[in-house]
Amino acid sequence: MKLKSNPERYGTVAVSIHWLSAILILALLGSGFRAVNSMDAAAKAGFLRFHIPVAIIVLILTAFRIVWWWRFDQKPLPVEGAPRWQERIARWVHVAFYVAILAMVASGIGMIFLSGAAPAVFGAPGAVLPNFTDYPPRAPHGLGAFLLVGLLVVHAGAALYHQFIRRDGLLRRMWYGGRLDRLETS
Ligand code: HEM
Repeated sequence: MKLKSNPERYGTVAVSIHWLSAILILALLGSGFRAVNSMDAAAKAGFLRFHIPVAIIVLILTAFRIVWWWRFDQKPLPVEGAPRWQERIARWVHVAFYVAILAMVASGIGMIFLSGAAPAVFGAPGAVLPNFTDYPPRAPHGLGAFLLVGLLVVHAGAALYHQFIRRDGLLRRMWYGGRLDRLETS
């Protein structure tokens, strides 16, 4: 399988970034909601000690992904037979993912900076966790989280619709190896 994509399928780099980002974003949603619902300050700080470094990895992956598509790779062609309106929605959902991820990272960093929570999160003795809702970036962070969940539902729903109802092999384009590669090299 090639590093770069071709008109039929995604390349190794795009596939790896896609699935790694998906796993890490699910972990961020899980740890974020758990942090908010933690009554105990130590447990909340524990979730945030996981949440913040993972978010920084997602930021680096997203920046790399933007540069990768901009400078080095080209998206495969739209899947055959899909109506134009579905293509258009898919494109909007993909752009909205980038906007939501970057907005989540920016509001998260804003929250930590404005509240001065870093010492309490990372375990400095005597430091106390602030009430994040006192700081303006908290509201967009919560809203963005629900937007991201909505986008994930639409995105995964569309992939499952292609896989099980249209049976057009769309999901296979976003995985390693497979029949299309064997055809390419034969
Ligand atoms: C793609 C990136 C990110 C995602 C998907 C994400 C996701 C979430 C979610 C789902 C919540 C719970 C929101 C709610 O229930 O209203 C949350 C809370 C939180 N996030 Fe993030 N987050 C991201 C980036 C960051 C970053 C970069 C930071 C800090 C540098 C951060 C700091 C926090 C904090 C402090 C809370 C807890 C707020 C509270 O307890 O009131 N997040 N995050």
